[in-house]
Amino acid sequence: MFVALLLLLALSNAVSIDAEVGRCGSNPILDPRPHSVSILEFGAVGDGKTLNTLAFQNAIFYLKSFADKGGAQLYVPPGNWLTDSFNLTSHLTLFLEKGAAIIGSQDPSHWNVVEPLPSYGRGLEVPGGRYQSLINGYMLNDVVITGNNGTIDGTGSIWWELFGSHSLNYSRPHLVEIVASEFVVVSNLTFLNAPAYSIHPVYCSHVHIHNVSISAPPESPYTVGIVPDSSDSICIEDCVVTMGYDAIALKSGWDEYGIAYDRPTENVHIRNVHLEAFSGSTLAFGSDMSGGISNVLVEHAHLFNSNSGVEFRTIKGRGGYMKDIVMSDIQIENVHTAIAATGHCGSHPDDKFDPNALPLLDHITLKDISGTNITIAGSFVGIEESPFTNICLSNITLSTNSVSAITWKCSNVSGFSDSVSPKPCPDLENPSNYSSSCFSYLMSITERNTAVL
Ligand SMILES: *[C@@H]1O[C@H](CO)[C@@H](O)[C@H](O)[C@H]1NC(C)=O
Ligand SMILES: *[C@@H]1O[C@H](CO)[C@@H](O)[C@H](O)[C@H]1NC(C)=O
Ligand SMILES: *[C@@H]1O[C@H](CO)[C@@H](O)[C@H](O)[C@H]1NC(C)=O
Ligand SMILES: *[C@@H]1O[C@H](CO)[C@@H](O)[C@H](O)[C@H]1NC(C)=O
Ligand SMILES: *[C@@H]1O[C@H](CO)[C@@H](O)[C@H](O)[C@H]1NC(C)=O
Ligand SMILES: *[C@@H]1O[C@H](CO)[C@@H](O)[C@H](O)[C@H]1NC(C)=O
Ligand SMILES: *[C@@H]1O[C@H](CO)[C@@H](O)[C@H](O)[C@H]1NC(C)=O
Ligand SMILES: *[C@@H]1O[C@H](CO)[C@@H](O)[C@H](O)[C@H]1NC(C)=O
Ligand SMILES: *[C@@H]1O[C@H](CO)[C@@H](O)[C@H](O)[C@H]1NC(C)=O
Repeated sequence: MFVALLLLLALSNAVSIDAEVGRCGSNPILDPRPHSVSILEFGAVGDGKTLNTLAFQNAIFYLKSFADKGGAQLYVPPGNWLTDSFNLTSHLTLFLEKGAAIIGSQDPSHWNVVEPLPSYGRGLEVPGGRYQSLINGYMLNDVVITGNNGTIDGTGSIWWELFGSHSLNYSRPHLVEIVASEFVVVSNLTFLNAPAYSIHPVYCSHVHIHNVSISAPPESPYTVGIVPDSSDSICIEDCVVTMGYDAIALKSGWDEYGIAYDRPTENVHIRNVHLEAFSGSTLAFGSDMSGGISNVLVEHAHLFNSNSGVEFRTIKGRGGYMKDIVMSDIQIENVHTAIAATGHCGSHPDDKFDPNALPLLDHITLKDISGTNITIAGSFVGIEESPFTNICLSNITLSTNSVSAITWKCSNVSGFSDSVSPKPCPDLENPSNYSSSCFSYLMSITERNTAVL
């Protein structure tokens, strides 16, 4: 009887995300962990000046011993908790109380340098290693980063300056990076001023990002909000993201390294999001997509104040694919190019890439979209040797400003459209075949996605 109860307790503390496909189904149920300690018990001082790296490392080392006892919570009370990078552990909840801020220290010499990710082969910005992220997970199971609207602040300005002046010795750290882990929840928090990416799940499964607010200033260079990277079964919902470059970017590795690592980003469900991005795109795919990106459903999104609303980026040498992607119920405002796809965007990690590794863009459906103050409605610039195919557009009304006389640009692309205004280029204007080529596929992806709701 007692054993059974214990077992039940242990089970109930595992993150119960919809294990089916990681789609946004019911919200994750986060039962309290049976053990909780405060960071204060490890000598931390929340004055915004004292460096608390050891306190975080020691607390998490201590909490490791509760992994087989239902896990434990590390409680962070109100205060400004300055720290360098630290690692999480399995069956852990990091809980930030209202008024609690974990603040990244600003001295790059304090930051560990770690190996590049194998699917990238090198640091993104500088060849070689990269600075470790502020909060890290590696090969974890059942980890929760949550709170009562506490803050995780990367104080990115020092990194943005180093990036801007080309003085980085290694690629910039991210705010939170979870690698090769399963059952990860990030919720109910505010993320500020990421040095580069804010939340980066890579090689992960079953990740639920819920009710978070993420921001960095518009001028912060190449800052990105959420970056699902070579990961599957991801739900992102009820989030507000405002970034310098992209708000949400789906990726899967870089050229020959990504092709060799061969891990796609798939089964991603994004809904109820407000995305603002300054110089990039609110919703981006690639350009690092060499492991492939597929089976993505985005619905009920508000995309605004950005260079582009939705953007697919790739280049010869990437290989991989972006396919089976459906977006519906999207509102776009104050965006230069509402929908963009380019086969000529991005750089290569080194000169060992294979220029004949051609990426595919296929079966992309965009429907029920309205937009205001748009300059270019759509720009599809495919690759001659691998044209973009089966682009399906339906019920799209974009009200364009008068900045540009051209509202659509197309080359090396084919597709279908139905009720699209302004009228798309002939390459995409093929109403008679819309239903046969697009609709059956659309039914299958929405069925798969609603099956678990
Ligand atoms: C954190 O994890 C990384 C591997 O991801 C490791 O290199 C580093 O030593 C760990 N740091 C600590 C303090 O345990
Ligand atoms: C979202 O998080 C805030 C705290 O950050 C909380 O007050 C609110 O209830 C949460 N909403 C949902 C739907 O969980
Ligand atoms: C959460 O905190 C941020 C900044 O600390 C604040 O701007 C925001 O209004 C808060 N949100 C909620 C739901 O309390
Ligand atoms: C980069 O390396 C150079 C030479 O070792 C050193 O002088 C400089 O302080 C380093 N810069 C940073 C930001 O760590
Ligand atoms: C977020 O906060 C709300 C309100 O406190 C709570 O009901 C919910 O369980 C939390 N959700 C997650 C996923 O932490
Ligand atoms: C229209 O959008 C552009 C950005 O593309 C923005 O600069 C401009 O202020 C917007 N105009 C209005 C009237 O909102
Ligand atoms: C067309 O899209 C709009 C949203 O932009 C939606 O309100 C409307 O119901 C859609 N119409 C049809 C026929 O699905
Ligand atoms: C395909 O793209 C190439 C340049 O990449 C261009 O020269 C060619 O005209 C395009 N073909 C079509 C059919 O648009
Ligand atoms: C429409 O589809 C039919 C069969 O599916 C095909 O024979 C025909 O060529 C297509 N028409 C166009 C204009 O693509």
